[in-house]
Amino acid sequence: MGKALCKRLIEEKHHVVAILKPHGTEIPYSTHNQIISLKMDLANTIDYKAVSETVESLCRRSRYSQLNLIHTAAIFRKQRIDFPCTSKEISEIFQVNCVSVYTITQTLLPWFRKVNNGTIIGISSNLTKRVNSNTSIYTASKYALEGLIKQLAYELGRYNTRCNIIAPGYFRSNMSLPLPKQKINEIKLKTPLGRIGTTADIVQSILLLLSSNAKWVTGQTILSDGGNSLGF
Ligand SMILES: NC(=O)c1ccc[n+]([C@@H]2O[C@H](COP(=O)([O-])OP(=O)(O)OC[C@H]3O[C@@H](n4cnc5c(N)ncnc54)[C@H](OP(=O)(O)O)[C@@H]3O)[C@@H](O)[C@H]2O)c1
Repeated sequence: MGKALCKRLIEEKHHVVAILKPHGTEIPYSTHNQIISLKMDLANTIDYKAVSETVESLCRRSRYSQLNLIHTAAIFRKQRIDFPCTSKEISEIFQVNCVSVYTITQTLLPWFRKVNNGTIIGISSNLTKRVNSNTSIYTASKYALEGLIKQLAYELGRYNTRCNIIAPGYFRSNMSLPLPKQKINEIKLKTPLGRIGTTADIVQSILLLLSSNAKWVTGQTILSDGGNSLGF
C-alpha cells in the first residue's frame, strides 16, 4: 500500500521521501525527480541523521507549505498465546509498527515547528475494534500506535500539526495472507458496502486526512473498512 500511496502523492505533486527496507521491495518509479528513497530497517537503529538531512535539504530547496509524515510500514506475524513468538519478534513488531513513528517524529520535530502546518498519519487496523484469531501481538502494537498518535495530537497541536489514524479492514496486499474463498465471502457478507477493500480505498482515506478538508480533525482514528467493524 505504501507504494500505491507514493504513486498517488507524486500525481498530487507532493515531494516524497520514502523510507524503504534494505533489500526489500523497490518502488518502480524510484528515479522520479519528486521522490528520494532512503534505505532503512525500521526494526533496527534508524539513521536519524539521514532522515533529518534529507528533509532539511528538501525544505531548503523551496518553501514548503505542509510537512506530512505517513507511516505505513508494519510487520504481521501469525501468532497466539499457545503458539507464541519469541521476545525478539515481539520487540521487532512493536519497534516497526509503533516506536519508529515516535522516533521519526522526534527527528522531524524542528521541521514540524518551522513549517507550522503538518500532518502525521499512522495506519492501524480495524482489529482494534474487535477480536480476531492469531493476531494478538500485532493488534496490541496497533493499539499502542493509536495511543501514541492521540498523545502526539495533543503535543504537536501547538505546531499546527494534526495527528490521526486510518484503520483499514482487510484489503489484498503482500501482508494480508491470501485468504480462502469462503473467508473472503464471509468478510463480504459482514461488510455493509458488500466488497473487499483495495489499496486504492485506503490511499483515498489517507489523502482525505492530508487535505485541508480535514484541517479541524486531529487525534482521531478513522475506520476505512466499508463498515466491517460495525458488527452484525
Ligand atoms: N492488508 C490488510 O488487510 C491490512 C489490514 C489492516 C491494516 N493494515 C495495515 O496497512 C499497512 C500497510 O500494509 P500492507 O497490507 O500494504 O502490507 P505490506 O505490503 O506488507 O506493507 C508493509 C510494508 O512495511 C514494510 N516494512 C516491514 N518491515 C520493515 C522494516 N523493518 N523496515 C522498513 N520497512 C518495513 C514492508 O517492506 P517490504 O515490502 O520491503 O517487505 C512493506 O512495504 C500496515 O500498517 C498494515 O498493518 C493492512
